[in-house]
Amino acid sequence: MAATLAKEAGSATRAADALDVAARVEHVSKSFTTPAGQQLVLDDITLDVNQGEFVTLLGASGCGKSTLLNLVAGLDRPSAGSIGTDGRPALMFQEHALFPWLTAGRNIELALRLRGLPKAERRPRAEELLELVRLRGAYGKRVHELSGGMRQRVALARALAQDSKLLLMDEPFAALDAITRDVLHDELTRIWRETRVSVLFVTHNVREAVRLAQRVVLLSSRPGRVAREWTVDIEQPRRIEDAAVAELSAEITEELRGEIRRHGQH
Ligand SMILES: Nc1ncnc2c1ncn2[C@@H]1O[C@H](COP(=O)(O)OP(=O)(O)OP(=O)(O)O)[C@@H](O)[C@H]1O
Ligand SMILES: [Mg+2]
Repeated sequence: MAATLAKEAGSATRAADALDVAARVEHVSKSFTTPAGQQLVLDDITLDVNQGEFVTLLGASGCGKSTLLNLVAGLDRPSAGSIGTDGRPALMFQEHALFPWLTAGRNIELALRLRGLPKAERRPRAEELLELVRLRGAYGKRVHELSGGMRQRVALARALAQDSKLLLMDEPFAALDAITRDVLHDELTRIWRETRVSVLFVTHNVREAVRLAQRVVLLSSRPGRVAREWTVDIEQPRRIEDAAVAELSAEITEELRGEIRRHGQH
């Protein structure tokens, strides 16, 4: 397997020869310097995302989910511990961050260009990716002509255009209405199964976490630690209202409530 990238605290990127997972987080801690002094946000997090696995990272607001995702993305460095990923991950955030002056198709082609795909192959590939996210015909549409759900589909197509082994998603559907989100859950599940990409998906929505993941990892708050993990053994495609999804969500919610109570949040 082509394990290519690993980041270690305070040091430059190094090659990891034996990385057999999509991402490996080992004993990672992260502190920020604030006016009140050093704030420990993540404390000794160890977590693997296996090849082709779909993992959701769940926790209360402010527990450090985005901080951890940013570290895995290589946007910031851990204060201690090490992080390795199989190649460079693709990112998708709550805000679509598409370039408004480019069409949907051109936004995707830009990612293909950055990946080094020859010019002649870009348009057909962009059309294919738009088809994959069920946006056939949207190639020439500008961002302002698209609905919120359509924009997130383009953002997903652009993330997939990077052909990364690992997709990092930070609450990508949080701003969408429930019905659109439900449709996009189905699409994401289908695309994950078709492309076999590994996904690390951050959310504070328990139902969403259970609807999507093979494994749910619950972070505690202040500092963020891995509090508990659940393997979700429910057949896909699932519906958010399925009894089995509701049952496991209730169990996880109870645990999450306990975490929040322990740390005096609401
Ligand atoms: N660059 C920074 N400098 C100082 N503190 C930071 C920085 N980034 C994050 N924090 C702090 O770290 C903690 C965790 O923030 P983070 O954004 O990771 O939480 P989160 O779990 O993603 O929350 P949410 O669910 O609200 O998105 C917060 O207390 C935040 O204020
Ligand atoms: Mg966040």
